[in-house]
Amino acid sequence: MAERSAPVGVMDSGVGGLSVLAEIQRLLPNESLLYVADCGHVPYGEKTPDYIRQRCRHIAGFFREQGAKAMVLACNTATVAAVADLRELYPDWPLVGMEPAVKPAAAATRSGVVGVLATTGTLQSAKFAALLDRFASDVRVVTQPCPGLVERIETGDLASPQLRQLLQGYVQPLLDAGCDTLILGCTHYPFLRPLLSGLVPAEVAIIDTGAAVARQLQRLLADRDLLCEGPPRGVGFWSSADPQALRDILPVLWQVDEKVLPLGV
Ligand code: DGL
Repeated sequence: MAERSAPVGVMDSGVGGLSVLAEIQRLLPNESLLYVADCGHVPYGEKTPDYIRQRCRHIAGFFREQGAKAMVLACNTATVAAVADLRELYPDWPLVGMEPAVKPAAAATRSGVVGVLATTGTLQSAKFAALLDRFASDVRVVTQPCPGLVERIETGDLASPQLRQLLQGYVQPLLDAGCDTLILGCTHYPFLRPLLSGLVPAEVAIIDTGAAVARQLQRLLADRDLLCEGPPRGVGFWSSADPQALRDILPVLWQVDEKVLPLGV
């Protein structure tokens, strides 16, 4: 039986999940959080589902060794590849995955056209196709894989001219198609909101799922009487690549300089 004071493990292929971690910390400041950036294997977007499943199993095993009471896959690509596998492995362990916000976008669009920016892995998955079948039958969904964005964000680049040009090339076809609601279907992309706001007209709504994931975690923990009530706790950081590289960009993406430990591969 897990303890309320046990930590929650949060993972991503790299730094993208920090956008979700921030929402979790805002909603659940008393929780102790462990963050694993699988930077030695980023990007997941172009890897096979089997490869990603192995990585997620490894990281889930690490969280369990640390006594984590729950795990968050703060990564859309990891969720489509691995959430079912992890649920089968650990049926009683609260596990939160995430998916592009197709349902709220389909409800919100007035033009009837929704754009999705996500990784190739997410967009090509059967899980994403099922999501469209379920929630988007009345709207037109235009999808755009975005190779190269994650690699730039991983270096802490959120605003260079090259990044701006790459992003514009991905967004413009969606705007040309008449999209008024843009889904950020990868947890790295919320870090591009400032850049995006200069590329997208103000009337286009930009949505992501970080806050919804935090609420889902809160529900799962509350259902099991596992919410922590002590004083605010911190976050521990691990990276499967050079810990110093993650430490160098944390002040850009997380605002605080933190210690980062190496994750055994
Ligand atoms: N941040 C991840 C996602 O939400 C994946 C990025 C990648 O490694 O390609 O999809």
